[in-house]
Amino acid sequence: MTNGPESSNAGNEVSEAQIAVHWREEEYIQPPASFVAQANASDPAIFERFSEDKFPECFTEYADLLTWDERWHTTLDTSNPPFWNWFVGGRLNASYNCVDRHAEANPDKTAVIWVPELETDEHVHISYGELYRKVNEFAALLRDFAGLKAGDRVTLHMPMVPELPVTMLACARLGVVHSQVFGGFSGNACGTRIADSGSRILITMDGYYRAGDLIDHKVKADEALEEAARQGQEVDKVLVWRRHAGQYASETPMRDGRDYFVDEVLTQYAGATVAPVSMASEDPLFLMYTSGTTGRPKGAQHSTGGYLSYVAGTSKYYQDIHPDDVYWCMADIGWITGHSYIVYGPLALGTTTVIYEGTPNYPDAGRPWRIAEKLGVNIFHTSPTSIRMLRKVGPEEPKKYNYHFKHMTTVGEPIEPEVWRWYHSEVGKGEAAIVDTWWQTETGGFLGSTLPALQPMKAGSCGPGVLGIYPAIYDEDGNDVPAGSGRAGNICIRNPWPGVMQTIWGQPDRFIDVYYRKYNRDPESKDWRDWPYFAGDGALQAADGYIRILGRVDDVINVAGHRLGTKELESAALTVPEVAEAAAVPVIDDIRGRIVEMYVSLKPGIDPAGMDAKVSHAIEVEIGKIARPKNVWIVADMPKTRSGKIMRRVIASVSNFADVGDVTTLANPEVVETIRHHVQSAKVARGELPRELSEAEYEEIAKYGSAE
Ligand code: WT7
Repeated sequence: MTNGPESSNAGNEVSEAQIAVHWREEEYIQPPASFVAQANASDPAIFERFSEDKFPECFTEYADLLTWDERWHTTLDTSNPPFWNWFVGGRLNASYNCVDRHAEANPDKTAVIWVPELETDEHVHISYGELYRKVNEFAALLRDFAGLKAGDRVTLHMPMVPELPVTMLACARLGVVHSQVFGGFSGNACGTRIADSGSRILITMDGYYRAGDLIDHKVKADEALEEAARQGQEVDKVLVWRRHAGQYASETPMRDGRDYFVDEVLTQYAGATVAPVSMASEDPLFLMYTSGTTGRPKGAQHSTGGYLSYVAGTSKYYQDIHPDDVYWCMADIGWITGHSYIVYGPLALGTTTVIYEGTPNYPDAGRPWRIAEKLGVNIFHTSPTSIRMLRKVGPEEPKKYNYHFKHMTTVGEPIEPEVWRWYHSEVGKGEAAIVDTWWQTETGGFLGSTLPALQPMKAGSCGPGVLGIYPAIYDEDGNDVPAGSGRAGNICIRNPWPGVMQTIWGQPDRFIDVYYRKYNRDPESKDWRDWPYFAGDGALQAADGYIRILGRVDDVINVAGHRLGTKELESAALTVPEVAEAAAVPVIDDIRGRIVEMYVSLKPGIDPAGMDAKVSHAIEVEIGKIARPKNVWIVADMPKTRSGKIMRRVIASVSNFADVGDVTTLANPEVVETIRHHVQSAKVARGELPRELSEAEYEEIAKYGSAE
């Protein structure tokens, strides 16, 4: 567990001097004057409005960006820590705020531009007026055909198509809690989330384009339902959107009385309108599942009023979204980034948000820049993994296209200063302000970032806490690790904020244990000051207050900005009946940050031939392709402590060609050399030599798994 007594020191004894070997303290870079002149936040008085003595009332500035049916009477209710309630007494509807009010004022304005993956297909403009119609018709279908009502949960397993925000907003219109599962996740992963959330309706699509192929997606719905049923949850109806109306992209049969094509059913609801259901501010808007230390995924539950206020406010000031901007976030809506900063934040502000179906480098590395040029995108948002990949395959591509970004974002993982500089000078052409936003599924919106017109950029640092967020870095005993001390510690947020998740769906004790137990000063206290939020990241704060995130201190591997729990990977491997033991370790990767390698031992008498492929396949089935390990190493025996615990740091070191450290206290030290020889000679033969590791990376590997 993250908060166990043995979590001590995991990832937090890295000194500034050690990190400096890899990342030196960088120079400030000022935002362009042209950006500052038009920025939403350009008056430093804003810092005064959000100073700590103005907490929590400062956040009414965000809530005031929304239209409320009833105004709240209590900004923050702390009577049941750490289950905070924001804007209590307030009532509103998220769909009304993201659709109706803009459709009334500006019906022809483009809400969504959808870019299909095939470049020969035209992009699609959806105006706020059309979005209103689509959301209403689908809401009528959900209510009258699917029988859904406020408070019900519904699982979505959809790709990057405009039908996804339509579905989310139709749910929100009814107060139905949506739980969108990333389309790349497997049927089984979807089934587990259906069961955990208690959904009796699944909304999916028949297929979608990925790297030029029309992928069969409906097949996963059948797998999902089987898995959900195995876990005790029956699904009544599967609503299947079609990628091409009237054609079916899947091989799997539609089950009579259970599976329905949405386009066919929708004809009954043409022109229907559904009054938005007025929800209490603290009613849940959606669940977003994420990985943690144990195998069971965590459904982060986000509120209606607090969440929507927070993403609207941070979209305005940190994404600098104006109604006339063309904003493109290349993340997937299946992750929190897409919920907050493709759908809810931008649409709450009435801007134009771009949704791209496919992979960034399809059909070639110039695609994103052609899209930007063609659509006039002026705000661009992506991850370090995509930036590294686009830089590798097309370093000269951006300059071939005539687009101009005023603002760019990087999110999801630490970005190397060298990669940041390419993003700044080549992608941004030196004309854009950049924000490196640090946050999490659980936090709803940004926690750390520079305010783009008012705080200079510093490559490799996310910047200070955002408006109204007061971070602290604590050592294992809860002492402050002062800014500028050069020491790392666990980053925490001292105060509640409107975007923070309300709980983990169905696991309130786990919510307290994972995020609040570690630094709680008094379990009886009703004072928020006694309940710092533990983010699970190691971090270091420079003298100027800028924060450098070092990475997770728990058993989570961040692959290309996606969190994978080692326990989930290991349980997936253990579904193969021949496998006796499994361990997942991170390997440093130049493009994806970290990749996964598995170590597996087999039951006695099992022939190892083909077992690696079997384990890989099991992980793909249980989690999805994104989790597929780079290598699966079949070993005769795992290195273990005398109490029988697998020493993950030893095998992690082997996989990264790092020093395995002291192994003399192991129960079976002799296996280490056998494993090292086997693994490293195979890697050398495959040309899988890592680059030289920085000290910080070295530390991460050397301590890997000691948080157990
Ligand atoms: C973890 C959260 C927040 C949306 C995407 C990921 C890492 C996130 C940064 C950043 C360094 C970052 C942290 C965090 N992370 N942003 N700007 N710099 N690391 O959401 O899947 O919940 O993952 O991603 O380790 O804890 P998530």
